[in-house]
Amino acid sequence: MDFQLTEEHLMIQKAARDFAINELLPGVIERDEHQKFPAEQVKKLGELGFLGMMVSPKYGGAGLDAISYVLAMEEISKIDASASVVMSVNNSLVCWGLETFGTEEQKQKYLVPLATGQIIGAFMLSEPEAGSDATSQRTTAEDRGDHYLLNGTKNWITNGNSASVYLVMAQTHPEKGSKGINTLIVEKNMPGVTIGAKENKLGIRGSDTHSVMFQDVKVPKENRIGEDGFGFKFAMKTLAGGRIGIASQALGIASGAYELALKYSRERKAFGKEISQHQAIQFKLADMATRIEASRLLCLKAAWEKDHHLDYTLSSSMAKVFSSETAMWVTTEAVQVHGGYGYVKEYHVERLMRDAKITQIYEGTSEVQRIVISRSILA
Ligand code: CAA
Ligand code: FAD
Repeated sequence: MDFQLTEEHLMIQKAARDFAINELLPGVIERDEHQKFPAEQVKKLGELGFLGMMVSPKYGGAGLDAISYVLAMEEISKIDASASVVMSVNNSLVCWGLETFGTEEQKQKYLVPLATGQIIGAFMLSEPEAGSDATSQRTTAEDRGDHYLLNGTKNWITNGNSASVYLVMAQTHPEKGSKGINTLIVEKNMPGVTIGAKENKLGIRGSDTHSVMFQDVKVPKENRIGEDGFGFKFAMKTLAGGRIGIASQALGIASGAYELALKYSRERKAFGKEISQHQAIQFKLADMATRIEASRLLCLKAAWEKDHHLDYTLSSSMAKVFSSETAMWVTTEAVQVHGGYGYVKEYHVERLMRDAKITQIYEGTSEVQRIVISRSILA
């Protein structure tokens, strides 16, 4: 066992940290306030290789390991979780799914521009009546010989408007339940695709969340990923990796808030001394640091298992539920350490607290992670 990061890992961590401080920090409050998608910054993330981190260089990716991905996600999320969710969806839900299960033609046509950041992608599983209960897909992909006819509505889609390529789950054989679902690659500009209004959210307000409607969209057969009926397994396998990304996002939100609280506690004086000299504040900081370290270890363990081609489904769910609950707790305590100043936008911690909440909901709620964990340990 080796807890030491390599030189390459440290370089990637530093590159992500520098990017976050220099490119993301300056406008982050304004983007949050005005719900502005970080388009320019996402473009630069793509140019630096952060949108196709684990994709092979053969397809335009950076060819890095999952550990590097966790490190970069943590650094970007410390500053701007709206940018890091774009990174997480593109890397682990869209690029990984295409590289692992796509055909050579699909990879050449879609993965290359996605991995190089020329375009971004979206992953469409959730529907108005199918969130946690993801097998209850109402969207249909009717088999019409050389194409599928796609009809239905997807909800809460991250990158819903900014993405050019969507991975859409839809039911082809309702009588087969989860085994009747297919995943199709759909282009935003295919006739019959409509994008709903942008959701006005509590947190990650810079990210671009929309519903997306499909009406008689003709999707060529060659755009199906895997065998007929593989779509739900595709979604689950892809989400196992996606949850490492969101766990690392939560880790970053927590460590960003902790660093701010630590700094502030040494600056603010009350009752004649720095508040960091009051034991109540010291204990909060101690608990924050401990929970964050535990989250980091869980994220890195899941990533290590992925890099070693082991089954990481259990670890990724453990990392996600623990890190997201840590993020919610740490950010709330960070606001408390800041007192009244924590409640206003300039000090960043209130935004981090709002951003933390989503990590307990998307890519499987905390309850869903506990379902996955308990089924695994009881099996
Ligand atoms: N790998 C491979 N196959 C899997 C799997 C996995 N990790 N998990 C389940 N499956 C298979 C099962 O083996 C089963 O197939 P068989 O019948 O052949 O055995 C099939 O999938 C159905 O599985 P279940 O019977 O376990 O299904 P379920 O109805 O009990 O649901 C669930 C299980 C874990 C709750 C699942 O529905 C789930 O994960 N729900 C949450 C959905 C989710 O995470 N959505 C996220 C959307 S994307 C997003 O949110 C992005 C973002 O915000 C940025
Ligand atoms: P529900 O499933 O209705 O759950 C409601 C509550 O009931 C939750 O607390 C849940 O945990 C609990 N619950 C449900 N079933 C059980 C059970 N069996 N046992 C115990 N508790 C249970 N989806 C995508 O496909 N792509 C995206 O890009 C995407 N991005 C998102 C971005 C944002 C900002 C948001 C808010 C959501 C996004 N989602 C996306 C959707 C997200 O994955 C779902 O919201 C999530 O899976 C929960 O589904 P739901 O909202 O329908 O809640």
